[in-house]
Amino acid sequence: MVLLFCMVSKSVVAIARPVISGGRDPCSVSDFKVLCRSVVKGQKNVNAATEVSIRELMKRTTKAKEVAASGQKSGGGLKTCYSNYDSAIGNLQKALKDLKKNDGFSLNINLSASLTEFDTCNDAMGGAKASNVFARSTKTLHEMADNCLALSTLVKQ
Ligand SMILES: *[C@@H]1O[C@H](CO)[C@@H](O)[C@H](O)[C@H]1NC(C)=O
Repeated sequence: MVLLFCMVSKSVVAIARPVISGGRDPCSVSDFKVLCRSVVKGQKNVNAATEVSIRELMKRTTKAKEVAASGQKSGGGLKTCYSNYDSAIGNLQKALKDLKKNDGFSLNINLSASLTEFDTCNDAMGGAKASNVFARSTKTLHEMADNCLALSTLVKQ
């Protein structure tokens, strides 16, 4: 009986959500708003905006991982980035599952984990002072992960 009630109330929440979260620009909470808006493209629904941001980050990380793979034999930053991108993709996959389940708590943990992976890669590439193309792309990935985390705080539990 209790279980049935939970299931019913959950579906009511799911139906009501798009109405509640509509209207505002979700990217207003992000640190890198221009980048956020270029990915979210006007999507007002918070869950949809978070999902599209995570998917775009996964796509770009997969590409960056290929670049890192070709250079990782030279060691240094690229080797770190290769393995960190791999972990980051795993964490983002988990985050997508968490989002589908409206599990905001786990979503936050798994997105934070991916942000740390990008952070470490960024540092390994010389951080902000690095000027090569790969280092710049890893900086962008880090900013996108930061945006995903910001958007995820709007996801209703
Ligand atoms: C996300 O991370 C948390 C903490 O490690 C974990 O409990 C949760 O199951 C993860 N989500 C998925 C879908 O694995």
